[in-house]
Amino acid sequence: MTNRTFTMIKPDAVKAGNIGNILQMINAGGFRIVAMKYLQISKQQAEKFYEIHAARPFYGELTDFMISGPIVAAILEKDNAIADFRKLIGATNPAQAEEGTIRKKYAASIGENAIHGSDSDENAEIEGDFFFNGLERF
Ligand code: RTP
Ligand code: MG
Repeated sequence: MTNRTFTMIKPDAVKAGNIGNILQMINAGGFRIVAMKYLQISKQQAEKFYEIHAARPFYGELTDFMISGPIVAAILEKDNAIADFRKLIGATNPAQAEEGTIRKKYAASIGENAIHGSDSDENAEIEGDFFFNGLERF
């Protein structure tokens, strides 16, 4: 059972003023914040972060979107963090996301879907290490 995941509040949700609302849902969901920062990443950093999707047709659009404004990056802790967080954020396509999920409430489309959540223990560690060093985790 994993106890940490990595998330980003994406540029669309930041622009819409939803950082506070989303953090409140994360808190209410029982997640503890291990690390957090507010920053804008470069195209090169976005390409590296999403390199697993490099061959997909949406790679260019996805990386352009992710650099279109600041994001909030965070490491979160909870029992069963990966699965519980993906449940809290809802389906990739907000049209298919369940009622009460973050994407149902705050995402507009599959491309601009408000929030990221790691899909595995291994990726949570890689993604957390991409954004945070040891002194930035509590
Ligand atoms: P994420 O990694 O952002 O948490 O999202 P996810 O696991 O639910 O979805 P994933 O398959 O990992 O895709 C990563 C992001 O790529 C964008 N996408 N666009 N236009 C499209 O068909 C399409 N498909 C995926 C989404 O923004 C998705 O979050
Ligand atoms: Mg994913």
